[in-house]
Amino acid sequence: MQTRLSRDTHSEHTTPLLAIPLFRDDALPGRRHPALDRLTGGLLERALESRDFEGREEQELLLYVRGGEGLEAGPQRLLLLGAGKRDDAEADLMRRLAGRTVRRAESLRITGVSLALPQDLPDGLAPKAAVQAAAEGLVLAAWNFRELHSPATGQDERDPVRVMEGALLVEADDPALEEARRVGSAFAEGQNLARDLQSRPGNVATPSHLAEVALGLADRFGLGATILGPAEMEAEEMGALLSVARGSDEEPRLIVLEHRGGKEGERPLALVGKGLTFDSGGISIKPASGMEDMKFDMSGGAAVLGAMHAIGALGLPVNVVGVGPSSENLINGSANKPGDIVRARSGKTIEIINTDAEGRLILADALSWVIDHHRPAAVVDCATLTGACVVALGHHAAAVLGTDEALVEELRTAGDRASERCWPLPLWKPYRKQLESTFADLRNVGGRPAGTITAAWFLSEFTGETSWAHLDIAGTAYGESELPYRRSKGAFGFPTRLLLEWVRGRAG
Ligand code: BES
Ligand code: MN
Ligand code: ZN
Repeated sequence: MQTRLSRDTHSEHTTPLLAIPLFRDDALPGRRHPALDRLTGGLLERALESRDFEGREEQELLLYVRGGEGLEAGPQRLLLLGAGKRDDAEADLMRRLAGRTVRRAESLRITGVSLALPQDLPDGLAPKAAVQAAAEGLVLAAWNFRELHSPATGQDERDPVRVMEGALLVEADDPALEEARRVGSAFAEGQNLARDLQSRPGNVATPSHLAEVALGLADRFGLGATILGPAEMEAEEMGALLSVARGSDEEPRLIVLEHRGGKEGERPLALVGKGLTFDSGGISIKPASGMEDMKFDMSGGAAVLGAMHAIGALGLPVNVVGVGPSSENLINGSANKPGDIVRARSGKTIEIINTDAEGRLILADALSWVIDHHRPAAVVDCATLTGACVVALGHHAAAVLGTDEALVEELRTAGDRASERCWPLPLWKPYRKQLESTFADLRNVGGRPAGTITAAWFLSEFTGETSWAHLDIAGTAYGESELPYRRSKGAFGFPTRLLLEWVRGRAG
């Protein structure tokens, strides 16, 4: 999807579909919209008088533009989008409006759309934030994972239409709005990459596939790339990561991308994402029902690659290192067994109580590696780490925990800006006791109580004094959604936008 800004008026803007949001107070009977009335021959006025359209968010009204001289010019159809109460408007409303526009275009089989920015935005929604979010909504909504379906013949009316062009109509001639469009578009393209990777099944998106994709990004955006395979991991003594990988025929990879947009020598921000390309649970095997969703266990790694895509494309003025430890968690004769004790790269020994708590094992070695090799100013990891997180926060927020309160708060507010929310859980000392082991330095599970907190405690054992925070995205990375800029089912690319808002905030 290509996005652009346009300063056309409604009537001079040539497009098959022009979406116009109306807040409730713009949809009162008697409210005049002279330009729209002219275009529709008075039909809008009648619709408002009938109260059939009151500007509520679930309402839409498609009107055809009255013909006349100069038929080719101007919009062919107007889509009035209920936008709810003006005072409730926030950035995510713009994503939803853009998503609704794209969905309607798909059902009309139209490949180019335009969306007008609502008039008189409330104080809580700055035009820049509105344009960024609208661009995100257009690009995100247009995404559809079709690469593993047979190619469309063009003959079948069930072949989905791909909306390719989206224009945003703005009034002000302000270069900051063009920059906001560029940022929103890039953030969403990065998130769409994450969703592609998430959607690819375990037999396609293997650790080496993710590494190939990362090398492609490095090429395209001039990023530094380092890929560690089993031999390099042995040399680094990554006993925790390797113990998980040994249970599978597929080789593990530690994927590292470096964006050097900041000052020479400035300590980078580190993004680390769990790239477990299929989680069977190992010997502590998962139930069969729903196990296919465990291809999404690389969602954290996918989001990090998506974020690096956008960071590279935008050339953000900051140094960032993105890291994706990637492995399968399967069951062969060399797989981890409950009771096994492995030595992590940091030197700590871990008693594996449950082979299904594998994410923290591969993250432990990735965290200590990036801290030792890159001396990051701050580390943020994201991982589909615990089912307990889904119980605690459901599907509307990730959990955020860390050793740096200020960093946790930065991530929380970045999540608000991105509408990819996260909410803090405490990393208090008493929880640490649940990880004590009789036979090793720590065990890899802390029992049923507070599973998200004990998992984060485990990770913190490998982050030393570095400013660090962790996002548990088990409930938010994929699933079912009612948001118009997502698909009803599947990959969300969460928390790509959150990470990007955080990085951009740090870039100043
Ligand atoms: N990948 C899973 C966590 C998960 C669960 C993600 C549900 C998405 C949806 C992780 O590797 C795992 O299996 N965690 C275990 C940990 C337990 C054994 C301590 C869990 O949460 O059950
Ligand atoms: Mn697991
Ligand atoms: Zn897992």
